[in-house]
Amino acid sequence: VSKSDPGTSAQPGLVEPAGRSVAGLADFELAARRVTSAEIHDFVCGGAEAELTLAHNRSALDAVQLVPRLFVGVSNVSTAAAPLGTASTLPMAIAPMAYQRLLHPDGELATARAAAQAGVPFTIAMLASQTIEEIAKTGAATWFQLYWLRDRGLTRELVQRAEAAGCQALMITADTPRMGRRLRDMRNGFRLRPGVVAANLTDGPRSRAHVGRPGSSAVAEHTDAVFDPTLSWHDLDWIRELTALPLAVKGVLDPRDAARCADMGIDAVVVSNHGGRQLDGAVASLRALPEVYAAVDGRLEVFFDSGLRSGSDVLKALALGADAVLLGRPALWGLAAGGRQGVEAVLSTLREELTVALALAGCADQAAARSLRKDTDPGRWDGHRARPS
Ligand SMILES: Cc1cc2nc3c(=O)[nH]c(=O)nc-3n(C[C@H](O)[C@H](O)[C@H](O)COP(=O)(O)O)c2cc1C
Repeated sequence: VSKSDPGTSAQPGLVEPAGRSVAGLADFELAARRVTSAEIHDFVCGGAEAELTLAHNRSALDAVQLVPRLFVGVSNVSTAAAPLGTASTLPMAIAPMAYQRLLHPDGELATARAAAQAGVPFTIAMLASQTIEEIAKTGAATWFQLYWLRDRGLTRELVQRAEAAGCQALMITADTPRMGRRLRDMRNGFRLRPGVVAANLTDGPRSRAHVGRPGSSAVAEHTDAVFDPTLSWHDLDWIRELTALPLAVKGVLDPRDAARCADMGIDAVVVSNHGGRQLDGAVASLRALPEVYAAVDGRLEVFFDSGLRSGSDVLKALALGADAVLLGRPALWGLAAGGRQGVEAVLSTLREELTVALALAGCADQAAARSLRKDTDPGRWDGHRARPS
């Protein structure tokens, strides 16, 4: 995927944007851009259709205004958390993201090793380009993300493999009965390059992701061929009974769906619009968060993703009711820019940013973030309500 000479770097192994050092996550995006082909950049950074939801995610986060508190001792800000019972040094896990060997030859192993070093859980995507077992051996605390396959036997087998490999939770992505129309990939006739495969799936159908056709995404054709679009609440019960692992449902935006998950004994919901890659026109993930938080009323954990690009974004999500967040594209920028070291640098940047943001907001820990006053919508003051409705 080498595109241009990455040049020399002050941090060994890490590509840097021309003429300056990395300071924030946007710099990692620039660095990644320098070594990533246009097609792969589009696959990672693109959204569905007109990319309205992709943009809404950012504008909703940008619009939030927090009111800091004063005279709070913040010399020892704690960022420790235990999402789904997995110890973490940050209220964060790495989001499930497919095919990481597209970004770097070390792929998921590099990202997982960086997560292990940072003490943050790594979510293994079902469509990972390395096996569950290889990734689990990195020493990272792992969760396994499941899509619903037409082949139910294979679905069951994957859950069992994840359990046997030591994954500590299962995350079911529910917002992908089919893949969203990602026009950039369609225009590029995007397909996986040889050597990057869905390593956990069977040989036959997975080869579909390698056969390019003009005007079509081979990755979308593969997923549409193997994913089961008939998914129902009843199927969620089937999984609940199949495993004793903590269970998260990813892609929740409607508070009614969140409440139903709580009724069914699900352990966490991930408020997510898949980073704007599924329904274009879907509500910004951040706008959905307060209602989901209110609807579940503490009965399950609430996670958040889609659009997070800084520690102060994480603080905003915590203030609006998230127990933890999933880190998406920025981890892939780090991976492209410097493999394991690049992801480590992204995570340490975020740790520093969140620690500074908590201190400046007068929060000694994340629980204090919940009670900050916040304005989520310019012109509509949300006041001091701890549980916005
Ligand atoms: C390249 C890429 C691949 C992804 N693959 C998956 C996947 O296999 N399963 C899944 O549940 N979500 C997947 N996602 C969505 C992420 O888990 C997450 O919801 C999203 O990236 C959050 O948005 P953000 O990156 O803008 O923060 C993927 C996202 C990207 C960018």
